[in-house]
Amino acid sequence: MRFEAFSRKAADQRCDCLVVGVFERGELGSEAQAVDRAMRGRLRALLARGDFSGRAGETLLMTEPVAIKATRLLLVGVGGKAQYNRRAWRRALAHAITALTRTRVASAALSLERPVGRELDDFYFGRAVAEAAGTGLYRINDLKSARKPRPPALARVLCGPVTSGSLGAVRRGLAAGAAVSESSRLLRNLGNLPANICTPRYLAAHARELERTYRRHLRVRIFDEAAIRRLKMGCFLAVTRGSEEPPRFIVLEYRGGRRNRAPVVLVGKGVTFDTGGISLKDPGNMDEMKFDMCGAATVLAAIDFAARSELKINVVGLIPTCENMPSGRAIKPGDIVTSASGQTVEILNTDAEGRLILCDALNYARRYDPEVVVDFATLTGACVIALGNHFTGVMANDDALARELVDAGARTDDRAWQLPLTEDYADQLRSNFADMANIGGREGGAITAAAFLGKFTQGLKWAHMDIAGTAWHGGAAKGASGRPISLVGDFLTRRAGG
Ligand code: BES
Ligand code: MN
Ligand code: ZN
Repeated sequence: MRFEAFSRKAADQRCDCLVVGVFERGELGSEAQAVDRAMRGRLRALLARGDFSGRAGETLLMTEPVAIKATRLLLVGVGGKAQYNRRAWRRALAHAITALTRTRVASAALSLERPVGRELDDFYFGRAVAEAAGTGLYRINDLKSARKPRPPALARVLCGPVTSGSLGAVRRGLAAGAAVSESSRLLRNLGNLPANICTPRYLAAHARELERTYRRHLRVRIFDEAAIRRLKMGCFLAVTRGSEEPPRFIVLEYRGGRRNRAPVVLVGKGVTFDTGGISLKDPGNMDEMKFDMCGAATVLAAIDFAARSELKINVVGLIPTCENMPSGRAIKPGDIVTSASGQTVEILNTDAEGRLILCDALNYARRYDPEVVVDFATLTGACVIALGNHFTGVMANDDALARELVDAGARTDDRAWQLPLTEDYADQLRSNFADMANIGGREGGAITAAAFLGKFTQGLKWAHMDIAGTAWHGGAAKGASGRPISLVGDFLTRRAGG
């Protein structure tokens, strides 16, 4: 996919299709007005006949429109003018891309009315356009054997008109958005694969592939079960015990920054399937627990993004990955294990396994003396209850870091919300038999999970992102969402000084 910005009048832009927005009740924004003028009022005439209402999501494709350079004109309904904000604009953008993918249009000029005010600066405008195109063109790497639909023809997206002063920033935004889209595709592909294909060994092989692609700046190390044992990761080993499928601990080191600058360490939960173990889950929607490795996929995608964008920053990715299965060898409620940090944990519920593999990986992060540590995990159903599917939960022992992540989410509309993380929550983890229990009761479940991790990150600047509600869509649109790669890409870019 190629992205370009243009500054000439939309009517004068040569391409297979020009896209303009129409407000509800047929009102035209300034971009559409200019096109209507070039077409000597034919757009208004069409609206006056009542053939197009401008309702959000409505589209109409006209072929061979007169007096404009494009061979087709796509009208996109953008809803009420008074409600036209960034969200409405993004939705219209998505509808436009969807409509275009149903045609043979190979090059499209997007001239949707930009939301007014300081809602969206030039860089993030370009980034959003490229991201929307990437998201809209994504197709699940499905394993259906028949009726493969024809891949969309769209290969070139033009964005404008933008004033000549804005061209540079919009172009940089388009390039950033294109990079995010590529990394997002990687994240979604891994997430969507079933657990019998996407195993810990598969994720490790994928990390190796990244190493081959970005040989100059990326080094990958992979630890097998014996090596994990040598690292004394007793909590991680406890989770994998019940599985035939072997675990892996994946370490990726991207070196784009100054040699002596401390790295940003990203840690991702890589449970390739979570049955709950002996504390077995209910069967309803259990298939969705193949997405329980989306934290790991986020880290792989983040490393891919940093390397692809050649960010001037050092990033380390740590991925503990295994299955959580019941078996005659599996851990049992009440079992006590020793983490790599030396702290002991009473496993009261084997379904609270994410925190167990993460705590040993977080401890491993210490050896890098990191600038900051951020972990990504589909950690708790409680986070989905708290925030729904709209916001990723952020919990941190450093408010400035939490703020940085929340702000990156706000800029990219990949939103995150900070939840409090105080000692009150850690108190809920008290155990009569070990240093701590692995669960803290139902109340504040997302936060007690974070408090558990907090016992392994003392002295580090650390944030935890619970992506249980945001990493995938359920229901008819079931599939990995690509979140939170947009947020993470922006976070890393800013840290790199870009
Ligand atoms: N992977 C799940 C969290 C999850 C559940 C994410 C449903 C998305 C949808 C995690 O391993 C888990 O099972 N958490 C338990 C913790 C509980 C036992 C304290 C949960 O949330 O129920
Ligand atoms: Mn679980
Ligand atoms: Zn899990």
